[in-house]
Amino acid sequence: MTVDPRTTEDKRALHDLLLGAVSPRPIALASTIDGDGHVNLSPFSFFNIFGTHPAILVFSPSRRVKGNTTKHTLENILETKEVVINTVSYSMVEQVSLASSDFERGVNEFVKSGLTEVPSSIVRPPRVNESPVSFECRVLEVKSMGAEGGAGNLVICEVLLIHAREYIFNEQGKVDPHLMDNVARMGGDYYCRVKGDAVFELPKPVIPVGMGIDQLPAAIRNSTVLTGNNLARLANLHHLPAPAEVEAFASEFSHLLNTSASGQVRTDILHRRAQEYLAQGEIKRAWLLLLNADHKH
Ligand SMILES: Cc1cc2nc3c(=O)[nH]c(=O)nc-3n(C[C@H](O)[C@H](O)[C@H](O)COP(=O)(O)O)c2cc1C
Repeated sequence: MTVDPRTTEDKRALHDLLLGAVSPRPIALASTIDGDGHVNLSPFSFFNIFGTHPAILVFSPSRRVKGNTTKHTLENILETKEVVINTVSYSMVEQVSLASSDFERGVNEFVKSGLTEVPSSIVRPPRVNESPVSFECRVLEVKSMGAEGGAGNLVICEVLLIHAREYIFNEQGKVDPHLMDNVARMGGDYYCRVKGDAVFELPKPVIPVGMGIDQLPAAIRNSTVLTGNNLARLANLHHLPAPAEVEAFASEFSHLLNTSASGQVRTDILHRRAQEYLAQGEIKRAWLLLLNADHKH
């Protein structure tokens, strides 16, 4: 399927495709006030971080598709140029969803959602007590992306002060995703809880650089068993193990190389064994097995 967003007539399908594909998205729970001091609280998942020094957050209250009206959050920001962006954890997600209801201008969604206001230190909008982290921000710029329904308004914010709960940090003082228990927005009514199996670790590429998939021996690169992920894991190594190491492995672990099969069948069996080692994080062992599986090496 190929879609040109500029010409497609099915805007609903376009919206669903965009939000389903760019997913999951973190959620900014934005607290603002209008010129008279009325408080507003609404969630926005067109949101991310765009720099750490200065610390820049950007989110987008779009023009409504239906009626082409603007969001109270945007109107407040244009009036007062301040916002507190609060993170959203699983324990508060239903209250956050409730706060997204289309309440009338001037209605305080803290009251409607039952979330708790805490005075901020620098800016006038309050922060959310239940959020693990809150960012007090001043708005540097609001960039309108168009005048039609669905057009975004990029609210570019500089973080002036961060409030973070102690419980989100592990013993090394780093934020632990399992303790943050963030939720993210996806397409349709789907959300994602950033916990359990959804979180995994992938070591950063080696320094200075790995050899790259193009440098893998052909028998490994063209394996019918190893996946793109497997090859990338193997290619994240500076250089091939030395021939002496490959030979030593063959004599010490000859049982791993023994199969009753021969030819392609044997190669596939050995590649599957190597794949298991990769899954266990035993990269060196996988390499040594693969290099022994390939007699042309
Ligand atoms: C999790 C979540 C994420 C949302 N993300 C956005 C968004 O990125 N942009 C947007 O315009 N509306 C988004 N909405 C809808 C707004 O929250 C909703 O229109 C709200 O009524 C706006 O409130 P306001 O008019 O008080 O600013 C989202 C709603 C939810 C529940």
